[in-house]
Amino acid sequence: MSDLAIFQLTDEHKMIRDTARDFAENEIAPIAARFDESGEFPHATIQKMGAMGFMGIEVPEEFGGAGMDTLSYVLALEEICKADAAHGVIMSVNNSLYAYGLIKFGTSDQKKRFLTPVAAGKSIGAYSLTEPMSGSDAGTMKSRAVRDGDFYILNGRKSWVTSGPVADYIVVFMMTSPEKKQKGISAFMVEAKTPGFIRGKKEPKLGIRASATSELIFENCRVPVENMIGAEGEGFKIAMTVLDAGRIGIGAQALGIAEAAYEAARQYASEREAFGQPIGAFQGTGFKIADMKTRIEASRLLIYNAALAKERSKTSGERFSLEASMAKLFASETAMFCAHQAVQIHGGLGYSKELPVERYFRDAKITEIYEGTSEIQRMVISRAELGLK
Ligand code: CAA
Repeated sequence: MSDLAIFQLTDEHKMIRDTARDFAENEIAPIAARFDESGEFPHATIQKMGAMGFMGIEVPEEFGGAGMDTLSYVLALEEICKADAAHGVIMSVNNSLYAYGLIKFGTSDQKKRFLTPVAAGKSIGAYSLTEPMSGSDAGTMKSRAVRDGDFYILNGRKSWVTSGPVADYIVVFMMTSPEKKQKGISAFMVEAKTPGFIRGKKEPKLGIRASATSELIFENCRVPVENMIGAEGEGFKIAMTVLDAGRIGIGAQALGIAEAAYEAARQYASEREAFGQPIGAFQGTGFKIADMKTRIEASRLLIYNAALAKERSKTSGERFSLEASMAKLFASETAMFCAHQAVQIHGGLGYSKELPVERYFRDAKITEIYEGTSEIQRMVISRAELGLK
């Protein structure tokens, strides 16, 4: 990876990037194919990542985190995803969708109880917004939370929850005042041991197979009022704010996949010969390499730029939705483009499980779907640019 001139990485940034790279190459890359094949959750490596501070990079040290900045988070995540995007999404959700919401909206008691174990990687956090009939149009959820004295009683069915089968703590969004639509949604912290919390069907998936995804079912699940995050009715804004952070993480995940696919294709194009020359010397292949490299570096700029915008927002309070959506949109489409070209350049070998290239292809696709599809990112960007609600 080149260090782009306009991003001056500090020694601290280089240190976390290199540490994550060493760990990913030595501990994750060798097991990635096996865990992809079995679909088993990689508990041992995730725990090691927690011990190294990767599961709560931006969480203040007083709450068990590494207390670093957003660029550090992105740099580390990119390296982990070069080795395995499944480890990457577990790390991304833990850091962005789970921890960031608590850092920004949690009370200090909530931070102490729910952030500390997850930031240290001892427990796993999840975020649960989507429902079987409510995905992109997130404001139309059917799940309900009704106040009963010092508790809320939660009922509903959630779907596509990353780490759902293993999470210890889950931030869940439910309607508290359905007539108010988006303004009637509230956020709750649910501990997995709470009666009425049930893990549903685990999704069999095309890619990121070592990460676990499932439905979550709430049947008269009683959650104390002090587990509400933010105020009643603030849930939609919390969900959207947190997703802005999440989208930077998925952008970094996509960048890691794109780089891995590119590196495999670049090497193969210079080694494999056909018709008396390396296949990279044919313009049809050489131009693919050029397009992959250019889109990767453009993605990197957008992602690092979004990371800096998020960092600034910690003091200014300004939103970074536009930067995050542009980064996620471009990087995820770049990941798909690069994985597609890498398979094509490898020919039959690219289609074989002998090499990780087919895994990059399967893993890339989800980055165009979760945490807001490419269509949703285009909606966010165009609405912002056109001044539309
Ligand atoms: N930050 C803060 N506030 C925001 C916001 C943001 N990014 N986006 C919207 N809002 C606020 C608006 O300002 C508005 O508030 P006011 O009325 O007070 O001004 C309110 O929220 C409603 O906004 P909109 O009218 O724009 O809402 P909408 O219903 O039209 O939806 C949307 C907007 C961007 C399409 C949104 O619904 C969206 O992002 N949808 C995609 C959801 C998504 O990404 N789902 C993935 C779930 S997670 C996952 O993938 C699984 C996993 O585990 C990884």
